[in-house]
Amino acid sequence: MNTKDYDDLILGHYKKIAANFKDLSTSSMEDRYVRDKEIEFIQAELKRERSLRQKDLRVLDVGCGNGYTLSEIKKNFPAFKLFGVEFTPELLEIAISRNLTDVEIFHKDVRTADFFLEEVDVAITERVIINILHKKDQETAIINIAAKLKTGGLYIMIESFKEPLVELNLARDEMSLTPIAESYQNIYLNEYFVGRIKKYGLEEINPVMPSNYLSSHFFNSRIIHNAIRPEGGKVKHTRLVGFLDQAFPPAIGNYSPILFRVFRKV
Ligand SMILES: C[S@@+](CC[C@H](N)C(=O)[O-])C[C@H]1O[C@@H](n2cnc3c(N)ncnc32)[C@H](O)[C@@H]1O
Repeated sequence: MNTKDYDDLILGHYKKIAANFKDLSTSSMEDRYVRDKEIEFIQAELKRERSLRQKDLRVLDVGCGNGYTLSEIKKNFPAFKLFGVEFTPELLEIAISRNLTDVEIFHKDVRTADFFLEEVDVAITERVIINILHKKDQETAIINIAAKLKTGGLYIMIESFKEPLVELNLARDEMSLTPIAESYQNIYLNEYFVGRIKKYGLEEINPVMPSNYLSSHFFNSRIIHNAIRPEGGKVKHTRLVGFLDQAFPPAIGNYSPILFRVFRKV
């Protein structure tokens, strides 16, 4: 697929998401548990970083979508200076219409080196690099993000990975469930990719919450629930999965493609 075709695919996909989900938290992530934990993780990292540096931070949310995450950060860190960049005009418009105080949002493409003209203490991608449908462009995006971080700055990466997807599908296969495929608008990252981005001065550090935090939830919702759901049983947002999420501790195994990772710019 050429770049124009894949841009049309991404823009078309997110235009529909913008129309259907407006400013809701479920925009781009219908699984509320996953969204809540992503936000919890980002806030925990920002809290740690603020105590480490003893100052309010400048934070950039790359591919900020409808601005939901920016609004949650602003609620908890009102003195932070926040920036967002977004590629899909319809999502950008929703993010801007939130009118968040001291938050600047731009219509930009992270694949271009001048996508953002300032330096920040923290950059975040929440399921954005996987939306870039060429491996080379995914790497370019990381290079561009790294360039906008001050030395010592933090990159909070919430992205999906191939290796845990393999684990998830092996467990599904044991229950005679069909494999889950990557969505058409995604190319998942892998450990080789993470190895490569270290070249750009990004050193991986231990996250506050375990990297595999969502693993138990994926096992509950994508394996146990699917294996025992009777015909006609509820498919999404069930009490069963809510119960299992509370009954089992998080971070068991490697069954969540979405990983929480953190890098420091050296
Ligand atoms: C899965 S959504 C996540 C949105 C937001 N981070 C959230 O958590 O709600 C991926 C976002 O990345 C944006 N995006 C895709 N390609 C991009 C690019 N090249 N530059 C900037 N944003 C991009 C999409 O428009 C979309 O809003």
